Amino acid sequence: MKKRVLLTHPLFEEVHQKLSSLFDLEIGIKDRLDLLEKIQDKDALLCFLKDPVDREVIERGKKLKIIANYAVGYDNIDVEAAAERGIIVTNTPDLLTDATADLTWALILAVARRVVEAHQFTVEGKFRGWEARLFLGKELRGKRLGIVGMGRIGRAVAKRARGFSMEVVYYSRGRLKPHEEASLCARYLPLDELISTSDIVTLHVLLTKETENLINRERIYKMKKGAILINTARGPVIDEEALIERLRDGSLFGAGLDVYRGEPEINLEFFKLKNVVLLPHIGSATEETRLAMAHLAADNIIAVLSGKPPLTPVWREK
Ligand code: NAP
Ligand code: GLV
Ligand code: GLV
Repeated sequence: MKKRVLLTHPLFEEVHQKLSSLFDLEIGIKDRLDLLEKIQDKDALLCFLKDPVDREVIERGKKLKIIANYAVGYDNIDVEAAAERGIIVTNTPDLLTDATADLTWALILAVARRVVEAHQFTVEGKFRGWEARLFLGKELRGKRLGIVGMGRIGRAVAKRARGFSMEVVYYSRGRLKPHEEASLCARYLPLDELISTSDIVTLHVLLTKETENLINRERIYKMKKGAILINTARGPVIDEEALIERLRDGSLFGAGLDVYRGEPEINLEFFKLKNVVLLPHIGSATEETRLAMAHLAADNIIAVLSGKPPLTPVWREK
């Protein structure tokens, strides 16, 4: 009998075909209850980052051998519960690094140069001619970019900073080797010093118990006057209430967010602010990257269900 695979939401036709040529593929879940029902007879689960795969889901999956997350971040999965049952968890590292670093820069530029606000002004027919002080933003050259979490994406963001002639400082759990720091032109700083001295702070940690609320109220208030905060990591890494306060009183220049605490719900106070750019979690959303991620997730399932080691297990990262 063919092994059974559950894909929680549609991906790409060619990836559906790849999986259904080998397995009995079921696509789509209505809600959590439906997932709890459908997981029971499945050998593999291919899920999205918006699907909470907690202990209850994992324990229902009596035949489950692999959970392949269609994302690099895997905070939606209880990896401990999976490990206890010998279930492999995989993610999609590396191939989304450039797309996400590019989007981080799109946010940096959009906030620093007030691109969205200026677009809105233009399409509202308000452009009456060139003005000396129309939409003045922040220069990037010579400014300090503070990268929190110097992993794959953090490094790709650092590489791009050279093109903008910025000074790069970083904080991460472990320090880079001296030759890595030299090749990225990046200098290590303790977190609080990075926060209080950077003109732009950009977050690239994964979400864990340690990084939840890493950029807490105290740290948000330590940020320089006129600084910019960018978050393409995960919403719960920052204290959104404190960020809103500092954006509202204008003591921060702006913020660019791709991720939110409790998304897809978004704190409505953000909608009232002009100095934010808000995106709907599209860091890895290029045609090329999303297709490659889908193939990698499927290939992880194919490997594990045919008795081979997974290509990109998350434990490797520990
Ligand atoms: P990664 O290579 O694992 O990088 C994460 C970095 O965080 C590592 O350098 C790690 O340092 C550091 N870190 C871990 N715990 C820390 C702590 N307590 N304090 C400080 N630094 C800590 O992962 P990645 O591929 O760059 O992806 C990073 C995250 O970006 C993902 O987990 C995901 O949440 C997010 N993401 C978002 C989008 C989007 O669409 N917006 C797209 C892709 C990824 P050590 O190695 O020293 O532990
Ligand atoms: C996106 O947020 C990812 O973790 O891949
Ligand atoms: C602006 O368009 C300039 O020429 O300086």
